[in-house]
Amino acid sequence: MTMDCNQAAMTLPGQRQDSLFGEAFSLPSPPPTDKTLEEIQTDLGDCQRCKLAKHRRHIVFGEGSPQARLVFVGEGPGADEDATGRPFVGRAGQLLDKIIAAMGLRREAVYICNVVKCRPPENRTPERDEVAACVGFLHRQLAVIGPDVIVALGASAASALLGDPKLSSISKIRGQFHDYRGIPLMPTFHPAYLLRSPDKKREVWDDMKQVMAKLKASTGARL
Ligand code: URA
Repeated sequence: MTMDCNQAAMTLPGQRQDSLFGEAFSLPSPPPTDKTLEEIQTDLGDCQRCKLAKHRRHIVFGEGSPQARLVFVGEGPGADEDATGRPFVGRAGQLLDKIIAAMGLRREAVYICNVVKCRPPENRTPERDEVAACVGFLHRQLAVIGPDVIVALGASAASALLGDPKLSSISKIRGQFHDYRGIPLMPTFHPAYLLRSPDKKREVWDDMKQVMAKLKASTGARL
């Protein structure tokens, strides 16, 4: 069944209304029909649902294991990702690769995706309407994968997933687990920020140690 993102973002009965970037916004339940990531990608199609479509070269859907126990969510594709159609392949991605390797994991074993699937011009922060048009696909991806832990890289990812308009600063919420639909979610600094502020790497590593401990302790039981 083809469903556009506006449909995907509708509030279903019994669902809570959350806020995103200061305005009422619903966290959509995924349609119960999703079984695979391919189905979601097919539904996304040659997406024209927001103004980011106009300038993009590739939609960057996400990549990794559909059975991943750990999912990293970034903000949106940059120039390298737009050119290749793959998430986190530029300088920030190379740093993310090092973080994943330091955790004792393989990039292929985790799943990596973004809040918006098309590159915002000049790598600006995605705007509210762009997030609203796209975030339903992210929710559906996470529902199909069903990871044990999610890492939100930066404020845009944390805000979109937690639906928290008061999320003024990633520094205030990082370092502790939050609840995303029963899945522990760790917000941490974005690797692009670490490239500019390498002194923050220690905090990210502390956060990843918590993530590793949570993965180790996880038996499929949710928060
Ligand atoms: N930054 C992001 O947030 N996502 C990417 O895929 C690359 C850089």
